[in-house]
Amino acid sequence: MPIQNGIIEFKNVSKYYSAGHVRVTALSHVNLQLAKGDFVTVMGPSGGGKTTLLNLMGGLDSPDEGEIILNGRAISSLNDKELTRLRRGEIGFIFQFFNLLPTLTVWENVELPLLLSHASRGASQRIESLLDYVGLLARRQSFPAELSGGEMQRVAIARALVHQPAIILADEPTGNLDSENGLRLLDLLKKASVDFETTVVVVTHNPEAARYGNRHFEIRDGVMKSR
Ligand SMILES: Nc1ncnc2c1ncn2[C@@H]1O[C@H](COP(=O)(O)OP(=O)(O)O)[C@@H](O)[C@H]1O
Ligand SMILES: [Mg+2]
Repeated sequence: MPIQNGIIEFKNVSKYYSAGHVRVTALSHVNLQLAKGDFVTVMGPSGGGKTTLLNLMGGLDSPDEGEIILNGRAISSLNDKELTRLRRGEIGFIFQFFNLLPTLTVWENVELPLLLSHASRGASQRIESLLDYVGLLARRQSFPAELSGGEMQRVAIARALVHQPAIILADEPTGNLDSENGLRLLDLLKKASVDFETTVVVVTHNPEAARYGNRHFEIRDGVMKSR
């Protein structure tokens, strides 16, 4: 299912976890509509529900109540195979701890999603231009351990873009960067969202992140509010 328009819709979405006998409300009745090209920032205290929100948006987890609609189709109507294809092909994930494979080079890390989905046509050209885009072509043979945090996160951006995803979900991507590199990373994400016409949702604690987005939300105790 191609998400041509990058639209995400949440209809009264709730998610609960049980911790022993206690039921934790991770998300409570979230209603949300994002349009193609939106650059969304999500802030809020630890445990508020930010990661849960991204996991649901990316089809990594499913809601207990309500409906999530991508490109006019309810995620719940997809079977496992369709969901996997959606995740791999339409959504780019960026994590706080980079999640690069340490035994693979920069080039191979970016190539990996293409190998997983057997999409090899034009691959080397695309990888090369993406590494050039994030300023790391010269480091293509390096291993993650040889890179700085900022560089690792730029590799993660290239990896996230390799499928030309409709949506990029970034969970505290600046959490392990100093403030200068954090801002640089947000600059790059912002630029990529324009150049690749991608909807971006970024969870961040960086108060300066607000100037990058056109939509701002806060989640606290599972309740999502516009800021
Ligand atoms: N797999 C899980 N099992 C039990 N509780 C969880 C699980 N994942 C998240 N939670 C709980 O859900 C709430 C929201 O968590 P999370 O979405 O990770 O918040 P944030 O990313 O804002 O820190 C927290 O109370 C957390 O403890
Ligand atoms: Mg989190």
